[in-house]
Amino acid sequence: MPVEELTTVLEPRPLSNFVETEQVKGIAERALAYISAGFPIHFRGISGTGKTTLAMHVASKVGRPVVMIHGDEEFSSSDLVGGEYGYRIRKVVDNFIHSVLKTEEDMQKRWVDNRLTVACKYGFTLIYDEFTRSRPEANNTLLSVLQEKMLDLPAAREGGESYLRVDPNFTAIFTSNPEEYAGVYRTQDALRDRMITVDLDHFDKETEIAITAAKTGLSRGDSEKIVNVVRNLRESGKCEYAPTIRGPVMIGKTLKVRGGVLSKDNPIFKETALEILTSETSRVGSRTHQAKVREVINGLIGKYC
Ligand SMILES: Nc1ncnc2c1ncn2[C@@H]1O[C@H](COP(=O)(O)OP(=O)(O)OP(=O)(O)O)[C@@H](O)[C@H]1O
Ligand SMILES: [Mg+2]
Repeated sequence: MPVEELTTVLEPRPLSNFVETEQVKGIAERALAYISAGFPIHFRGISGTGKTTLAMHVASKVGRPVVMIHGDEEFSSSDLVGGEYGYRIRKVVDNFIHSVLKTEEDMQKRWVDNRLTVACKYGFTLIYDEFTRSRPEANNTLLSVLQEKMLDLPAAREGGESYLRVDPNFTAIFTSNPEEYAGVYRTQDALRDRMITVDLDHFDKETEIAITAAKTGLSRGDSEKIVNVVRNLRESGKCEYAPTIRGPVMIGKTLKVRGGVLSKDNPIFKETALEILTSETSRVGSRTHQAKVREVINGLIGKYC
Protein backbone atom coordinates (compact mmCIF):
# COMPACT_ATOMS: atom_id res chain seq x y z
CA MET A 1 0.00 0.00 0.00
CA PRO A 2 1.50 3.37 -0.91
CA VAL A 3 2.43 5.66 1.91
CA GLU A 4 0.00 8.52 2.15
CA GLU A 5 1.04 12.12 2.38
CA LEU A 6 -0.78 14.79 4.25
CA THR A 7 1.03 17.93 3.32
CA THR A 8 0.36 21.26 1.77
CA VAL A 9 3.07 22.16 -0.68
CA LEU A 10 3.43 25.78 -1.70
CA GLU A 11 4.62 27.02 -5.03
CA PRO A 12 7.83 29.04 -4.84
CA ARG A 13 6.23 32.35 -5.80
CA PRO A 14 7.70 35.82 -5.25
CA LEU A 15 5.90 37.62 -2.41
CA SER A 16 3.70 40.53 -3.34
CA ASN A 17 4.93 43.91 -2.06
CA PHE A 18 8.27 42.42 -1.08
CA VAL A 19 10.72 45.26 -0.61
CA GLU A 20 14.30 44.76 -1.75
CA THR A 21 16.56 47.51 -0.50
CA GLU A 22 20.34 47.15 -0.42
CA GLN A 23 20.10 45.81 3.13
CA VAL A 24 17.49 43.18 2.26
CA LYS A 25 19.29 42.18 -0.94
CA GLY A 26 22.55 41.77 0.99
CA ILE A 27 20.99 39.43 3.55
CA ALA A 28 19.18 37.39 0.89
CA GLU A 29 22.34 37.05 -1.20
CA ARG A 30 24.36 35.81 1.74
CA ALA A 31 21.65 33.32 2.67
CA LEU A 32 21.45 32.00 -0.89
CA ALA A 33 25.23 31.61 -1.02
CA TYR A 34 25.17 29.51 2.17
CA ILE A 35 22.40 27.38 0.69
CA SER A 36 24.34 26.91 -2.56
CA ALA A 37 27.34 25.84 -0.49
CA GLY A 38 25.11 23.14 0.96
CA PHE A 39 24.22 24.55 4.38
CA PRO A 40 20.89 25.04 6.12
CA ILE A 41 20.29 28.61 7.20
CA HIS A 42 18.74 30.09 10.28
CA PHE A 43 17.34 33.61 10.60
CA ARG A 44 17.44 34.60 14.25
CA GLY A 45 16.17 37.85 15.71
CA ILE A 46 13.60 39.57 17.86
CA SER A 47 10.00 39.88 16.78
CA GLY A 48 9.31 41.92 13.65
CA THR A 49 12.78 41.79 12.13
CA GLY A 50 11.52 40.15 8.96
CA LYS A 51 12.63 36.54 9.59
CA THR A 52 9.57 34.76 8.22
CA THR A 53 9.27 37.10 5.24
CA LEU A 54 12.95 36.66 4.37
CA ALA A 55 12.70 32.88 4.73
CA MET A 56 9.84 32.84 2.24
CA HIS A 57 11.67 35.17 -0.11
CA VAL A 58 14.85 33.07 -0.04
CA ALA A 59 12.78 29.91 -0.55
CA SER A 60 11.16 31.45 -3.61
CA LYS A 61 14.64 32.16 -5.01
CA VAL A 62 15.68 28.55 -4.44
CA GLY A 63 12.83 27.74 -6.77
CA ARG A 64 11.76 24.35 -5.39
CA PRO A 65 8.30 23.71 -3.92
CA VAL A 66 8.07 24.81 -0.30
CA VAL A 67 6.71 23.07 2.77
CA MET A 68 6.25 25.10 5.89
CA ILE A 69 6.20 24.01 9.52
CA HIS A 70 5.49 26.23 12.52
CA GLY A 71 7.20 25.25 15.74
CA ASP A 72 4.84 24.18 18.47
CA GLU A 73 5.33 23.00 22.02
CA GLU A 74 2.89 20.15 21.44
CA PHE A 75 4.94 18.80 18.56
CA SER A 76 6.37 15.32 18.68
CA SER A 77 8.69 13.86 16.10
CA SER A 78 5.73 12.11 14.45
CA ASP A 79 4.28 15.53 13.67
CA LEU A 80 7.40 16.20 11.64
CA VAL A 81 8.10 12.79 10.17
CA GLY A 82 4.69 11.16 10.04
CA GLY A 83 2.72 8.65 12.00
CA GLU A 84 -0.14 6.26 12.03
CA TYR A 85 -3.41 8.01 11.74
CA GLY A 86 -6.94 6.71 12.32
CA TYR A 87 -8.81 4.08 10.43
CA ARG A 88 -9.88 3.91 6.88
CA ILE A 89 -13.58 3.63 6.12
CA ARG A 90 -14.69 2.62 2.68
CA LYS A 91 -18.17 2.55 1.26
CA VAL A 92 -18.88 -0.23 -1.19
CA VAL A 93 -21.86 0.15 -3.49
CA ASP A 94 -22.91 -3.00 -5.28
CA ASN A 95 -23.65 -2.18 -8.89
CA PHE A 96 -26.01 -5.09 -9.41
CA ILE A 97 -28.04 -5.00 -6.27
CA HIS A 98 -28.63 -1.30 -5.71
CA SER A 99 -29.92 -1.69 -2.22
CA VAL A 100 -26.59 -3.03 -1.07
CA LEU A 101 -24.37 -0.46 0.52
CA LYS A 102 -21.81 -1.79 2.78
CA THR A 103 -19.21 -0.01 4.76
CA GLU A 104 -15.88 -1.66 5.12
CA GLU A 105 -13.63 -0.69 7.91
CA ASP A 106 -9.98 -1.19 7.34
CA MET A 107 -8.80 -1.79 10.86
CA GLN A 108 -5.17 -1.20 10.09
CA LYS A 109 -3.88 2.18 10.99
CA ARG A 110 -2.23 3.81 8.05
CA TRP A 111 1.08 5.55 7.94
CA VAL A 112 0.90 9.15 6.78
CA ASP A 113 4.07 11.01 5.84
CA ASN A 114 4.36 14.46 7.35
CA ARG A 115 6.06 17.55 6.10
CA LEU A 116 9.67 16.81 6.90
CA THR A 117 9.46 13.40 5.23
CA VAL A 118 7.80 14.85 2.15
CA ALA A 119 10.41 17.61 1.87
CA CYS A 120 13.30 15.14 2.29
CA LYS A 121 11.85 12.64 -0.13
CA TYR A 122 11.16 15.04 -2.98
CA GLY A 123 13.92 17.57 -2.38
CA PHE A 124 11.63 20.43 -1.48
CA THR A 125 12.53 23.49 0.57
CA LEU A 126 11.52 23.21 4.19
CA ILE A 127 10.78 26.40 6.10
CA TYR A 128 10.68 25.58 9.80
CA ASP A 129 9.36 28.82 11.26
CA GLU A 130 10.04 29.44 14.97
CA PHE A 131 11.53 25.98 15.32
CA THR A 132 12.61 26.62 18.93
CA ARG A 133 8.96 26.67 20.01
CA SER A 134 9.02 22.90 19.56
CA ARG A 135 10.61 20.88 22.34
CA PRO A 136 14.24 19.99 21.52
CA GLU A 137 13.45 16.22 21.56
CA ALA A 138 10.91 16.73 18.79
CA ASN A 139 13.62 18.30 16.63
CA ASN A 140 16.21 15.56 17.22
CA THR A 141 15.25 13.85 14.02
CA LEU A 142 16.70 16.85 12.14
CA LEU A 143 20.23 16.09 13.32
CA SER A 144 20.79 13.20 10.94
CA VAL A 145 18.81 14.90 8.18
CA LEU A 146 21.18 17.86 8.22
CA GLN A 147 24.40 15.92 8.77
CA GLU A 148 24.20 12.43 7.30
CA LYS A 149 21.36 13.36 4.91
CA MET A 150 19.36 10.47 6.29
CA LEU A 151 15.90 10.61 7.80
CA ASP A 152 15.21 7.90 10.33
CA LEU A 153 11.74 6.50 10.01
CA PRO A 154 9.89 4.55 12.66
CA ALA A 155 9.58 0.83 11.99
CA ALA A 156 5.79 1.18 11.79
CA ARG A 157 6.02 2.88 8.43
CA GLU A 158 4.86 0.71 5.60
CA GLY A 159 7.19 0.14 2.70
CA GLY A 160 9.87 -1.47 4.80
CA GLU A 161 12.71 1.04 4.86
CA SER A 162 13.69 2.38 8.23
CA TYR A 163 15.45 5.39 6.82
CA LEU A 164 15.11 7.62 3.84
CA ARG A 165 17.97 9.13 1.91
CA VAL A 166 17.42 12.88 1.72
CA ASP A 167 17.08 14.17 -1.84
CA PRO A 168 20.07 16.39 -2.78
CA ASN A 169 17.72 19.27 -3.62
CA PHE A 170 16.41 19.40 -0.06
CA THR A 171 17.02 22.77 1.60
CA ALA A 172 16.16 23.83 5.14
CA ILE A 173 15.50 27.37 6.31
CA PHE A 174 14.91 27.96 10.01
CA THR A 175 13.73 31.00 11.93
CA SER A 176 13.76 31.64 15.66
CA ASN A 177 13.31 34.28 18.32
CA PRO A 178 16.01 34.79 20.95
CA GLU A 179 16.17 32.21 23.70
CA GLU A 180 14.93 34.60 26.39
CA TYR A 181 11.52 34.90 24.68
CA ALA A 182 8.54 33.31 26.43
CA GLY A 183 7.63 29.89 25.09
CA VAL A 184 10.98 29.37 23.38
CA TYR A 185 13.29 26.43 24.09
CA ARG A 186 17.06 26.52 24.01
CA THR A 187 18.33 24.94 20.79
CA GLN A 188 20.47 21.85 21.11
CA ASP A 189 24.07 22.84 20.46
CA ALA A 190 24.36 20.03 17.94
CA LEU A 191 21.46 21.36 15.90
CA ARG A 192 22.65 24.96 16.01
CA ASP A 193 26.09 23.79 14.94
CA ARG A 194 24.66 22.23 11.77
CA MET A 195 23.15 25.43 10.43
CA ILE A 196 24.46 28.88 9.57
CA THR A 197 22.80 31.52 11.70
CA VAL A 198 22.17 34.95 10.24
CA ASP A 199 21.32 37.38 13.03
CA LEU A 200 18.74 39.99 12.09
CA ASP A 201 18.13 43.33 13.74
CA HIS A 202 15.56 46.02 13.05
CA PHE A 203 15.74 47.17 9.43
CA ASP A 204 17.68 50.28 8.50
CA LYS A 205 15.74 53.49 8.02
CA GLU A 206 15.62 53.25 4.23
CA THR A 207 14.12 49.75 4.41
CA GLU A 208 11.57 50.73 7.07
CA ILE A 209 10.37 53.63 4.93
CA ALA A 210 10.17 51.44 1.82
CA ILE A 211 8.25 48.67 3.64
CA THR A 212 5.83 51.19 5.16
CA ALA A 213 5.18 52.78 1.77
CA ALA A 214 4.77 49.40 0.02
CA LYS A 215 2.43 47.94 2.63
CA THR A 216 0.25 50.98 3.30
CA GLY A 217 0.21 52.91 0.02
CA LEU A 218 1.25 56.06 1.92
CA SER A 219 3.58 58.45 0.11
CA ARG A 220 7.30 58.19 0.78
CA GLY A 221 7.19 61.48 2.66
CA ASP A 222 4.39 60.35 4.98
CA SER A 223 6.03 56.96 5.46
CA GLU A 224 9.23 58.70 6.49
CA LYS A 225 7.35 60.78 9.08
CA ILE A 226 5.90 57.73 10.86
CA VAL A 227 9.15 55.84 10.60
CA ASN A 228 10.95 58.79 12.23
CA VAL A 229 8.55 58.66 15.16
CA VAL A 230 8.97 54.89 15.54
CA ARG A 231 12.77 54.84 15.22
CA ASN A 232 13.20 57.64 17.74
CA LEU A 233 10.77 55.97 20.12
CA ARG A 234 12.81 52.76 19.79
CA GLU A 235 16.01 54.61 20.54
CA SER A 236 14.52 56.56 23.47
CA GLY A 237 14.99 53.53 25.71
CA LYS A 238 11.64 54.30 27.36
CA CYS A 239 9.78 51.28 25.97
CA GLU A 240 9.38 47.90 27.60
CA TYR A 241 9.36 46.42 24.08
CA ALA A 242 10.95 48.22 21.17
CA PRO A 243 8.39 49.10 18.48
CA THR A 244 8.90 47.16 15.24
CA ILE A 245 8.17 47.79 11.56
CA ARG A 246 4.65 46.48 12.29
CA GLY A 247 3.90 49.79 14.06
CA PRO A 248 4.20 52.12 11.05
CA VAL A 249 2.37 49.58 8.87
CA MET A 250 -0.55 49.35 11.32
CA ILE A 251 -0.74 53.12 11.71
CA GLY A 252 -0.63 53.71 7.94
CA LYS A 253 -3.27 51.09 7.16
CA THR A 254 -5.58 52.36 9.91
CA LEU A 255 -5.17 55.93 8.76
CA LYS A 256 -6.28 54.84 5.28
CA VAL A 257 -9.49 53.43 6.75
CA ARG A 258 -10.19 56.29 9.15
CA GLY A 259 -9.25 59.02 6.70
CA GLY A 260 -7.41 62.23 7.18
CA VAL A 261 -3.90 63.46 6.66
CA LEU A 262 -0.80 62.38 8.45
CA SER A 263 -0.22 65.45 10.54
CA LYS A 264 0.08 66.38 14.20
CA ASP A 265 -2.95 68.64 13.64
CA ASN A 266 -5.16 65.68 12.69
CA PRO A 267 -6.60 64.27 15.96
CA ILE A 268 -7.49 60.98 14.24
CA PHE A 269 -3.87 60.39 13.24
CA LYS A 270 -2.63 61.34 16.67
CA GLU A 271 -5.08 59.06 18.47
CA THR A 272 -4.30 56.15 16.13
CA ALA A 273 -0.55 56.52 16.45
CA LEU A 274 -0.71 56.83 20.24
CA GLU A 275 -2.93 53.81 20.67
CA ILE A 276 -0.98 51.55 18.33
CA LEU A 277 2.45 52.51 19.59
CA THR A 278 1.59 52.32 23.30
CA SER A 279 -0.06 48.92 22.83
CA GLU A 280 2.94 47.65 20.89
CA THR A 281 5.52 48.79 23.38
CA SER A 282 4.13 47.90 26.79
CA ARG A 283 2.33 45.16 28.60
CA VAL A 284 -1.32 45.61 29.48
CA GLY A 285 -1.75 47.20 32.87
CA SER A 286 1.42 49.16 33.43
CA ARG A 287 -0.37 52.51 33.33
CA THR A 288 2.36 54.74 34.71
CA HIS A 289 4.74 53.32 32.20
CA GLN A 290 2.25 53.85 29.39
CA ALA A 291 1.79 57.47 30.44
CA LYS A 292 5.54 58.05 30.08
CA VAL A 293 5.61 56.41 26.68
CA ARG A 294 2.63 58.49 25.53
CA GLU A 295 4.49 61.62 26.50
CA VAL A 296 7.49 60.58 24.39
CA ILE A 297 5.26 59.69 21.42
CA ASN A 298 3.42 63.03 21.67
CA GLY A 299 6.73 64.85 21.60
CA LEU A 300 7.94 62.89 18.57
CA ILE A 301 4.71 63.43 16.65
CA GLY A 302 5.02 67.16 17.36
CA LYS A 303 8.59 67.12 16.05
CA TYR A 304 8.30 64.89 12.96
CA CYS A 305 4.68 65.10 11.76
N1 LIG B 1 11.39 42.79 2.78
C1 LIG B 1 10.14 43.06 3.16
N2 LIG B 1 9.26 43.60 2.30
C2 LIG B 1 8.01 43.89 2.67
N3 LIG B 1 7.53 43.67 3.90
C3 LIG B 1 8.35 43.13 4.81
C4 LIG B 1 9.68 42.78 4.50
N4 LIG B 1 10.26 42.27 5.60
C5 LIG B 1 9.32 42.28 6.56
N5 LIG B 1 8.18 42.80 6.10
C6 LIG B 1 6.96 43.01 6.88
O1 LIG B 1 7.34 43.33 8.20
C7 LIG B 1 6.53 42.66 9.15
C8 LIG B 1 7.39 41.78 10.04
O2 LIG B 1 8.03 40.79 9.28
P1 LIG B 1 8.03 39.24 9.70
O3 LIG B 1 6.67 38.79 10.07
O4 LIG B 1 8.73 38.51 8.62
O5 LIG B 1 8.94 39.33 11.00
P2 LIG B 1 9.39 38.17 11.99
O6 LIG B 1 10.81 38.48 12.32
O7 LIG B 1 9.09 36.85 11.41
O8 LIG B 1 8.51 38.46 13.28
P3 LIG B 1 8.01 37.42 14.42
O9 LIG B 1 9.23 37.03 15.22
O10 LIG B 1 7.07 38.25 15.25
O11 LIG B 1 7.38 36.27 13.72
C9 LIG B 1 5.50 41.88 8.35
O12 LIG B 1 4.32 42.65 8.26
C10 LIG B 1 6.14 41.74 6.99
O13 LIG B 1 5.19 41.64 5.97
MG1 LIG C 1 7.82 35.30 12.01
